[in-house]
Amino acid sequence: MTFANRAVSGTADAAVSAILERLATRRSCRDFDGSQIDRAILAEIIADGVEAPSSCNQQNWHFVVVTDPDRKRRAREISGGNHHFEFCSALVYLCFQKGWTHGNFSIVQSVAGACYHMMLSAHLRGFDCIWNAGIGDHASLREMLDLPPIFELQGALAIGRAKPTAPAMKAPRRPVQDVYSWETFARPGGSIYPVKPAREYPYFEIRNDDNPFAEWDPGRWTWAQIADFRGYSVWAKSPLAGVYVSRRQGQAQEIEHSLLPSPLTGKVVEVMPWGGTSTSALYERLGQDARLSVAELSPHNHTFIRERLAREGADLDRVEFDLMKAGRLPYEAGSVNTVVLPQVLEHMPEPELFLDDVQRVLMPGGVVVVSARNIGSAYGRLWREAESRAQIPNQGPFTPLDAKQVSRWLQDRFEPEQEIGIGAEAAGDAATLTGDAAFSGRLYAARARRA
Ligand SMILES: Cc1cc2nc3c(=O)[nH]c(=O)nc-3n(C[C@H](O)[C@H](O)[C@H](O)COP(=O)(O)O)c2cc1C
Repeated sequence: MTFANRAVSGTADAAVSAILERLATRRSCRDFDGSQIDRAILAEIIADGVEAPSSCNQQNWHFVVVTDPDRKRRAREISGGNHHFEFCSALVYLCFQKGWTHGNFSIVQSVAGACYHMMLSAHLRGFDCIWNAGIGDHASLREMLDLPPIFELQGALAIGRAKPTAPAMKAPRRPVQDVYSWETFARPGGSIYPVKPAREYPYFEIRNDDNPFAEWDPGRWTWAQIADFRGYSVWAKSPLAGVYVSRRQGQAQEIEHSLLPSPLTGKVVEVMPWGGTSTSALYERLGQDARLSVAELSPHNHTFIRERLAREGADLDRVEFDLMKAGRLPYEAGSVNTVVLPQVLEHMPEPELFLDDVQRVLMPGGVVVVSARNIGSAYGRLWREAESRAQIPNQGPFTPLDAKQVSRWLQDRFEPEQEIGIGAEAAGDAATLTGDAAFSGRLYAARARRA
């Protein structure tokens, strides 16, 4: 843990310094031990929370505290699998009465202030917590909580005790000097992300699932912007296996990995795996003498992936973590046995240039295994018509590629050995498609060898 952002000055009071230091150690917990906390203590935490300021002092907030095991289980189901909803001690649903101080979201700001005050209170008392906006279907929750229509639901604060084995990591913070400026606005370009050009960006025209300004074309992002975005947003989840499961991809990863040489030998490089789900599966396929190098854009992805691998029992002496500067592979020419590109070419500003770099680092006879989302598939249509209208996902901007074009790019540089399509449907299935159908799957996947 680092306090790089923090300097405790302006107070000579050691007790105050100690509290400030302690507050800075708060971190989200997604792995609770299932124990109970006394209602009296929970009530004190709520009481601390309502010391927060509120717009017009109306205190139109309301907190529904759920401790009943069946209800918490139901809350988990409704949330779409938030494991921690079931095993926390209490879920404090954050609600407010509608009708007053909507301007500038004042009522939302008020509830947020109270929620954070509760978090800090819980933390100082030695408990763990996590704030969740992702709570699932509101209609089902309203029914579960018996919430009147005039009350709005914003999120839930889960409070409990972390399992002794829970990840003990704090998500990285941006350098503090990057997120404030004196007197007028200033911010480094790497942390201002590209959007579609427009004169104005009206807040109410932007929704998670409908953002007319979202710039999905990675060609319009710099590597620095892509690195910045992906490196921080990976922490929106937990390095615990199973916490993040891609419903879209289903079993596709297993099929992608079936194209790998078996066993994997020598130096194996996985490029931009973001959260490490594919890395842990790849690790399992390493032959005895093989070493894995994880090439990522941001050190924050490395920290996350390292933790994920450690939790799954990987021997970290066999894994190296290498930073790609400006999208270049940090390896000597001809030094790599296998390069794995797990749905990442479509995240790159210039995928062809990157394949040149793969060609450079592979040794003669070395293998590249590529998979890429395919625009010429049922998924491609879904992406064009719906997904690409939403906000940019946490993995960063991407545009599905034309499978035939990727195939040509590979032919221009390597000797293709196998090409398949994965997934006949827009999401979820992992059917293996061969022959011409290889170019119509949700994913196009191929193995090619350097001459
Ligand atoms: C308004 C808000 C909503 C959040 N919603 C979720 C959520 O739905 N699921 C989740 O796992 N984490 C959620 N978080 C937790 C953040 O991912 C977390 O605070 C962030 O990664 C920083 O990590 P830290 O809390 O450990 O410092 C939310 C946090 C805030 C402030």
